[in-house]
Amino acid sequence: MNVMVLGGGGREHAICRGLRLSPEVEKLFCVPGNPGIAQIAECVTLPSCGLAAVADFAAEKKVGLVVVGPELPLCEGVADVVRARGIPVFGPSKAGARLEGSKDFSKQFMMKYHIPTAKYASFTDCAKALEYVKSEYAAGRGVVVKADGLAAGKGVIVAASEAEAAEAVRSCFSGTFGAAGNVVVLEELLHGEEASILALTDGKSILPLVSSQDHKRLLDDDKGPNTGGMGAYSPAPVVTEALMNEITETVLKRFLKGIQAEKLDYRGIIYAGIMVTKEGPRVLEFNVRFGDPETEAILPRLESSLFDVLMKTAECRVSEIGMRWSDHPSVCVVMASEGYPGEGKKGFEITGIEEAEASGVIVFHAGTSMKDGKLVNSGGRVLVVSASGADVVAAAAKAYEGVARIRWEGVHFRRDIAHRAIRRK
Ligand code: AMP
Ligand code: GLY
Repeated sequence: MNVMVLGGGGREHAICRGLRLSPEVEKLFCVPGNPGIAQIAECVTLPSCGLAAVADFAAEKKVGLVVVGPELPLCEGVADVVRARGIPVFGPSKAGARLEGSKDFSKQFMMKYHIPTAKYASFTDCAKALEYVKSEYAAGRGVVVKADGLAAGKGVIVAASEAEAAEAVRSCFSGTFGAAGNVVVLEELLHGEEASILALTDGKSILPLVSSQDHKRLLDDDKGPNTGGMGAYSPAPVVTEALMNEITETVLKRFLKGIQAEKLDYRGIIYAGIMVTKEGPRVLEFNVRFGDPETEAILPRLESSLFDVLMKTAECRVSEIGMRWSDHPSVCVVMASEGYPGEGKKGFEITGIEEAEASGVIVFHAGTSMKDGKLVNSGGRVLVVSASGADVVAAAAKAYEGVARIRWEGVHFRRDIAHRAIRRK
């Protein structure tokens, strides 16, 4: 069968790799893809970025499954448009994607279906929001400020003080995040260790993947600003069997009940960002797609066909999916441009990828492009180096051996990915 993947980052590279390893897949297209993906799939830039163009291309190439990587096209309704042409899609409908596209909607959903989450309030008025910040701090609680809409991962400010929270509120309402900040969600600051729980659902059943943990902060020891994610590992030992059972009961099953009751057409991944607090797991956010970089740690552990998993989800046959996972943990390290998460310095030649791969790691491309026949960095997150090992210590050591072989001017990466799991050992 011919398959088409939408997106062009490290996550999509990992998805394309999994599909390439699936015996059922004949032609593999990726729109737009990247130079790494181009080694295993046909990368296509569509002349128009409209949703109809995606459906037209899929129909013309006799694509039997479209897999959507990022949240933006899902929130725009690409799954609905392609499905209307009779082509199966892995990814929720526009209505389902609101669970990521609007934090206010997502919080209302969690409240309605008793999914454990932080206390919150939503505001469209700056003065009222500032009053709420004041009263929360007076009551001894911290506040996290979230722009309601999609803001490319930048719309969440974990304030370190009341003044910082107030500043973030003002900044949201003054248009820093555009229309995404017209509604501001103020949430109680929770403490604990985070984990990412991804599950497949078709609206009839829900099936978790292996657990993982991201590293959101830019610098070692979880210092510096929040980023899209600087590295990940799987499994996350903080997710014990007992905790996973609790998450299944209080988050995943209630999520399923909620999408059924709301009649949301949801065939794809639900990603629950969890804070493991002293009082139990709390959902920080829902994402409606695979996590990045979690996917680059999770999918290399999948031993069965990724195509089978994605196709059965798209066809509402999740109950028939049987996944086999490697017991070996995996660790992936993000290599970023100097300046990330701000405007990074770009256009420098990247060397050493082949040597790294020869050492046994997988190098996923996230923000690379070709310039005058040379591979250069062209995004904030540039490469994701993934490795597995007999235990998490071995996996991390191997990933960093790969990282050490790769160079470009200004490259930045964290040196402590998987530190929590390693410290537990
Ligand atoms: P989100 O996009 O909502 O996951 O937020 C990005 C990051 O901000 C999360 O991964 C957390 O590290 C942090 N965060 C979000 N909400 C909270 C909260 N209520 N308490 C503490 N940290 C939070
Ligand atoms: N790794 C966080 C995300 O994908 O949103």
